Amino acid sequence: MATPLLALDSIVKDYPSEAGTFRALHGISMTVMPGELLAIMGPSGSGKSTLMNIIGALDTPSSGRFHFAGEETSTLSEPALAALRNRAIGFVFQQFNLLPRLTARDNVALPLIYAGLPRRDRLARANALLARVGLAERTRSRPSQLSGGQQQRVAIARALAADPRLLLADEPTGALDTRTGAEILGLFKALNREAGVTVILVTHDPGVAAATDRVVRIQDGQILYDGFPTPEALAGAAGHHYDAVS
Ligand SMILES: Nc1ncnc2c1ncn2[C@@H]1O[C@H](COP(=O)(O)OP(=O)(O)OP(=O)(O)O)[C@@H](O)[C@H]1O
Ligand SMILES: [Mg+2]
Repeated sequence: MATPLLALDSIVKDYPSEAGTFRALHGISMTVMPGELLAIMGPSGSGKSTLMNIIGALDTPSSGRFHFAGEETSTLSEPALAALRNRAIGFVFQQFNLLPRLTARDNVALPLIYAGLPRRDRLARANALLARVGLAERTRSRPSQLSGGQQQRVAIARALAADPRLLLADEPTGALDTRTGAEILGLFKALNREAGVTVILVTHDPGVAAATDRVVRIQDGQILYDGFPTPEALAGAAGHHYDAVS
């Protein structure tokens, strides 16, 4: 079998709190193969963003092992983790997180500075990425001149700048109306199907999760369901159904 892109084994995350420590993740185990498109669902405070931060190498687990493309991340130094993030992972956020004073093109080109590309090549690549997300005509617009859906397209182009293997999106359609959200979801699906990018998105929207291949439902820091996006799973009615896709 191919090497999983992500392998999480008994991941625990504790946050310090006034009452001692608060356990946000209670031993999460899951694997994600290259090319998967999956949705993480669960109530507010269930640990979805905490899990995404660990998967994205933005944070480290309190215990448990996390392998990214076969590499045990706890053995990596902070610079090595940062290099992994910059090289292999693209991040998309609910509120887009674009720099307001920069044009769409410059927002997308910015992360390429870390890749050491000369300015000319950065701008050419940014233009090509914006064309790929359907914004060839808006490369010189600033975020305030773009609709929410267009801003999210810019953010997706930026996330693709380093040609990552993994796209992580925390509520990418949460700030968008239903129709625009569906368009953004279609873009993620196209990137997954056509470019083979592994996509993990956090969503509260059963309609979004229904369009993915796999739903992981989390509650109180534990996996309650991991499998096909059945109507029961999307409604939160299916419990303790581990590893339907093994
Ligand atoms: N930096 C932190 N310090 C302390 N506690 C934290 C921290 N980050 C998250 N928590 C707590 O951990 C739990 C999980 O938080 P998390 O942000 O992962 O939830 P979530 O599922 O993403 O929720 P939402 O749907 O509201 O975004 C919550 O109880 C939260 O209060
Ligand atoms: Mg969250």
